[in-house]
Amino acid sequence: MPYSKRIRSNVALAIAIAAAGALNFARSAESQNQAATPSAPAAATAELSPVPVPGPLAQPRSAQQLGVPALQTLAEVPEDNPQTLQKIALGQKLFFDPGLSVDGTVACASCHNPDRAFTDGRTTSVGVQGRVGQRNAPTVLNAVYNKTQFWDGRTKTLEDQARFPITNPSEMGQPSLDAAVAKIAAIPDFAQEFETAFGQPPNSLNLVRAIAAYERTLISFDSPFDRFVAGDPNAVDASARRGWELFHSKAHCARCHASVNRDATYFTDFDFHNIGIGILRHNVVPLAQEAERRIAKNDLPAVDQAAIQSDLSVLGRFLVTRKDADMASFKTPGLRNVLITAPYFHDGSQETLWDVMDHYNKGDGLKDPWLDEDIEPLALTENEIDDLVAFMVSLTSAEYKEIGEKELARQRALSRISRPQRDTARAFGPKQPQPKPPCQCP
Ligand code: HEC
Ligand code: HEC
Repeated sequence: MPYSKRIRSNVALAIAIAAAGALNFARSAESQNQAATPSAPAAATAELSPVPVPGPLAQPRSAQQLGVPALQTLAEVPEDNPQTLQKIALGQKLFFDPGLSVDGTVACASCHNPDRAFTDGRTTSVGVQGRVGQRNAPTVLNAVYNKTQFWDGRTKTLEDQARFPITNPSEMGQPSLDAAVAKIAAIPDFAQEFETAFGQPPNSLNLVRAIAAYERTLISFDSPFDRFVAGDPNAVDASARRGWELFHSKAHCARCHASVNRDATYFTDFDFHNIGIGILRHNVVPLAQEAERRIAKNDLPAVDQAAIQSDLSVLGRFLVTRKDADMASFKTPGLRNVLITAPYFHDGSQETLWDVMDHYNKGDGLKDPWLDEDIEPLALTENEIDDLVAFMVSLTSAEYKEIGEKELARQRALSRISRPQRDTARAFGPKQPQPKPPCQCP
């Protein structure tokens, strides 16, 4: 296909995918099997969301919540960026200020909205000029505990993370971090608040420090499940209790979503796995070769742009490490408040928790040579699926109780008319043999 035509069909595909997302319906299993697309930047655009104003859910949270790992929360504060009230207040203001973006239209909070547990409810995020990215916005709640940031772990600390969305052309679009600082410094209020917080005029180091300090206050525990763990057997219903048992046994979710001894703090191993999301739609070997050719491994801004703006995004952790074992693998997300953060997975491809369960139940992706060995048909019954969903719902923090009830009703209604991932025959069938990786990979 000539290049220009290929681009056009790619754009059409990207627009179709964005439109499907906007309709809030998960893509059908059929469209998941579309042929490989070339890695030209997705040119799709969508309407920007209004920037949220900081309400009660945007406020720094108490460290006294039930279930908070108190010592670890303190240990997460770096020595060179101690928490102070002035710094946290400045960070909060910056997080909600669209003035940080190149054209004054997008704030951190545009994609990390407190009402949606600091996500945006979209399949993939939308930045300046309505540019549609390739990845679903993860929550910022409890990001303080992450060992790495982003779906592919390309940065470690919250300070390092914050500079990338500011300068990514599909997010806040600033030509440089210094350009963002110059814009902020021109606002007298901000200049004064930097002086108060840091004793210095605005600079890029303190900009990301203030934002990180605010994010370190966004901790969210105190769910019905925390009350259950603390000894109240009636804090969650029987269905959620059965779900918690299944989580460790037949469904073996805990292999990745919790550490040993039934630890109920983070619900993640902080590691990366290929669980078969999206990979069947792409031919990853040529994409991996293209990544090797085009992007130096340690060029983090280039990796960031490729992850947000191009088809190389599907390579996941491989884009960062270039290790074959990391092909199309992504970070295990924690599951707290997961009810509120739909749609799911790094590409936002699944609309409800039932769709997520259907994916795991059939052990999708067995034609994917890099699939994690822990993904296999689970033979879960419909009741068991409901129990696992009930367990995940019980991880909703107290401040999201009402929003959670509405969202559960929405997902339940949708799941009654649409279960695009359900494949009972496969869920109850044998594990299919897996092909070996074609190892011309770099
Ligand atoms: C245009 C939407 C958008 C904007 C604006 C945006 N983000 Fe994000 N954010 C995302 C997406 C999408 C990801 C995941 C990207 C990836 O993994 O490649 C992400 C990831 C993150 C993560 C990592 C969370 C995790 O679990 O790995 C943090 C923390 C974060 N953003 C904070 C911020 C801050 C702070 C700002 C403002 C300086 C910001 N974001 C602006 C969409 C956005
Ligand atoms: C082999 C490791 C592994 C196992 C086993 C596993 N998960 Fe996951 N889980 C992951 C990874 C990795 C992701 C992110 C994958 C992606 O987006 O490509 C994920 C994503 C999710 C998400 C989406 C969260 C979000 O914020 O988008 C949910 C919900 C979830 N898993 C629940 C479960 C449940 C329930 C089980 C058991 C039936 C389970 N997981 C088993 C590793 C695993």
